[in-house]
Amino acid sequence: MESLWDNINEEDRKRIDFLRAELTRHNHNYYVLNSPEIGDREFDEMMKELESLEAQHPEWDDPMSPTHRVGSDLTKGFQQVKHIHPMLSLGNTYSVSEVEDFMRRTKSSLMGETFEIVGELKFDGTSISLIYEHGRLVRAVTRGDGEKGDVVTENVKTIKSIPLQLDGDDYPDKFEIRGEIVLPWEAFERLNKEREFNEEPLFANPRNAASGTLKMQNAAEVARRGLDAYLYYIIGDNLPCATHYDNLMAAKRWGFKISEAITVLHDIAQVDEFISKWDIERKTLPVATDGLVLKVNNLRQQLNLGFTAKSPRWAIAYKFKAERALTRLQYISFEVGRTGVITPVANLDPVLLSGTIVKRASLHNQDIINSLDIHDHDMVYVEKGGEIIPKITGVETSMRDSSSNRVEFITNCPSCGSRLERVEGEAAWVCPNKYGCAPQIVGRVQHFVGRRMMNIDGIGEETAELLFSTGLIKNIADIYDLSHAQLAMLDRFANRSAERVMTGIKESKEVPFERVLFSLSIPYVGETGAKKIARSVKNIDNLMSMTHEQLTEIEDVGPRIAESIIEYFSVPENREIIERLRLAGLQFSLPQDSDEGGSDRLAGKSIVISGTFVHHSRDEYKALIEKHGGKNVSSISKKTDYVFAGANMGPSKLEKANALGIPIIDEDTFLSMIAD
Ligand code: IVH
Repeated sequence: MESLWDNINEEDRKRIDFLRAELTRHNHNYYVLNSPEIGDREFDEMMKELESLEAQHPEWDDPMSPTHRVGSDLTKGFQQVKHIHPMLSLGNTYSVSEVEDFMRRTKSSLMGETFEIVGELKFDGTSISLIYEHGRLVRAVTRGDGEKGDVVTENVKTIKSIPLQLDGDDYPDKFEIRGEIVLPWEAFERLNKEREFNEEPLFANPRNAASGTLKMQNAAEVARRGLDAYLYYIIGDNLPCATHYDNLMAAKRWGFKISEAITVLHDIAQVDEFISKWDIERKTLPVATDGLVLKVNNLRQQLNLGFTAKSPRWAIAYKFKAERALTRLQYISFEVGRTGVITPVANLDPVLLSGTIVKRASLHNQDIINSLDIHDHDMVYVEKGGEIIPKITGVETSMRDSSSNRVEFITNCPSCGSRLERVEGEAAWVCPNKYGCAPQIVGRVQHFVGRRMMNIDGIGEETAELLFSTGLIKNIADIYDLSHAQLAMLDRFANRSAERVMTGIKESKEVPFERVLFSLSIPYVGETGAKKIARSVKNIDNLMSMTHEQLTEIEDVGPRIAESIIEYFSVPENREIIERLRLAGLQFSLPQDSDEGGSDRLAGKSIVISGTFVHHSRDEYKALIEKHGGKNVSSISKKTDYVFAGANMGPSKLEKANALGIPIIDEDTFLSMIAD
């Protein structure tokens, strides 16, 4: 009997298909064509509708659905596979004359035949091999050692410019396409700003950031960082066209992002022109490039030319020289960070460098200033050399005004006037006035409210400054005395923003102890350190009463951190702040149940974990084994009681377990073994 349900299901199915197709098209418009047809809001609404329909109909789940591009937290461990075709590199040159040699060599190898060259940008990211079958992305593999690489499909699926399902019907049934995964300058700068604020190590350049991101275990974080991908090399038996260029144009129609820069060139003069053009224009590109690639266009000719052991004979890379600009030093400012360290910053006449306008460059510390021997208003060389934070690499002394003075490091804090102190054994100068120096206080407030710390939504860097400059807060504890009325009175502060801050403050009271500890800005206590300390000491009272010796017994706490903790708690202002935060309801101890929930269900059992899991990470499983009285061991022996196996368990482990007759349990079995 046809029921009403069948009709509803039919409608849902159609709607799901429609939304998937539309969202895929809009993703392509936005990420590949850079020309969105609809606004973000409309897009988000469609995505939400699709998510909710898919949740109602798990039976129609499709791994290619646009909803899967947000990434999950469960991508754990990478499997390695052998490349179908080894991933080779390219012969490099830095000179136009060597490029011309390559052209002549190619002509003679082709017995004087005419040939075309395809000029391309050499993207500075991390290379990727994508395998498509029946128009669907089935695997994404990193270069690895060229022979085998890591399978990073889940992470790659979060890159919206990579099609999961191809358009058209003239693609080969099975083919490989290679390209470069890049982190555009803008996303890179945003990421580093965030990392700087959270005191995490900065990425030196977009290439490192792209490859680091691609290998992350957390696809949701990968999705957030904003990777992009340009494809430039397609390999397969039944390619639609006889030339590299035409195949790339076909790939573009199938939905891939193919650089607009690629050009067919007919002779040495055109190649030279292409090089000169991009030597200049690359500076305005949204992504990092480190050169150009020149490839023989005709696939038959490519086949004739073949490969050396390391690289194709039909292509060559022309590398750009490190970019540097000459500009005038206006003045050096000395900035005070939240820990009181003074950073000298060179303020420059604005100059274009690798696509961004540079106005400031860090001079790091006094030693750098001394070694550069900078004078007031010198002409200085600024370089990015793949690194984002521009560096001053030299001074053009021939252009120096002979009457100019050598730059001297300051002796007093530029903000509060205190006499600076030199940190023993380091090049840094610090302002010792921790509790009276405005930028240090504001810096601590900014750190406290940050995303990885108390995550108080609504208080950004500027609001923190505003709250301090209007006298509403003088330290982090004052945040918890703020009222809605006080906030609503602030300039530029709408009712809704005040509401948001109040909610953020309330929610921060649930932030776990380890993050509260990190948010206090105890010098040298970073994110990981705070975690280890919190787990070891359990609550703040224990921490406050510990001796130097007891502190250094905590994992990773050395004498410098121990001293810093003792000093921090010896200051009455800090103790008072802690008391006020405690009264406000912040978490100053680990939750009661963090030790609870244990049992002796696995008492005396030795368990080896192998493979990757769905419900918990490996580390979480290790902790669970211990919580229930078991022992996690790393290698299989006669004494092993169980092998706890996830997906992709190593074959040698499997063989050994079988040979010794050790029971192999899966995730569900393990969870049922420890269940109440
Ligand atoms: S073609 C068989 N084209 O440069 C050679 N490579 O030094 C296939 N790269 O590993 C590579 N942009 O990661 C090619 N337009 C481009 C490229 C490019 C960047 C990278 C790629 C490769 C490395 C070689």
